[in-house]
Amino acid sequence: MSETWHDIDIPALRILRYPDPRLRKECAPITSIDGDLRRLVDRMFELMFDVHGVGLAAPQVGVTVRLFVACPTGESDDRRVYINPRITSLDGSQEGEEGCLSFPGIYSKIKRADLAVIEAHDIDGRAFEETGQGLTARIFQHECEHLDGRLLVDRMGTVSKLANRRALKELEEKFASTPR
Ligand code: NI
Repeated sequence: MSETWHDIDIPALRILRYPDPRLRKECAPITSIDGDLRRLVDRMFELMFDVHGVGLAAPQVGVTVRLFVACPTGESDDRRVYINPRITSLDGSQEGEEGCLSFPGIYSKIKRADLAVIEAHDIDGRAFEETGQGLTARIFQHECEHLDGRLLVDRMGTVSKLANRRALKELEEKFASTPR
């Protein structure tokens, strides 16, 4: 991991909202699992559960490393960690409403593969493979796109963009007027 990563104030991390440019960065692979990474993961779960989310990628809290956490069941003891994830296979298709914690209040019908196989490392550094179906497969695809700087809005069709035009504009205006 980069030097800058270890200077981050983890308790101060918040979920970034569109159109924060940090959401657009290509994330770097994680090279070591240490106490800071564990604290980051804990903080990400805390932020995700606070808003009843089912997935959160590290760039969404401003840390541009290849990591996401997920809880497809919504149960607080279902804490799945995916370090350096890679989707190795996609199959079938599903269409459903998809949201993103960086786009509060915005939902869009998005077509995804119904089955996704992912390879990753867990928080103890062990390699594993998991096959996700339905919502879990959707989370895998959505979160992996975050790690390449790709966002929900890139996936939205013309109709959905029109339907969400006001909400998107409000997020843009809010971001522009927030002091940083
Ligand atoms: Ni998202």
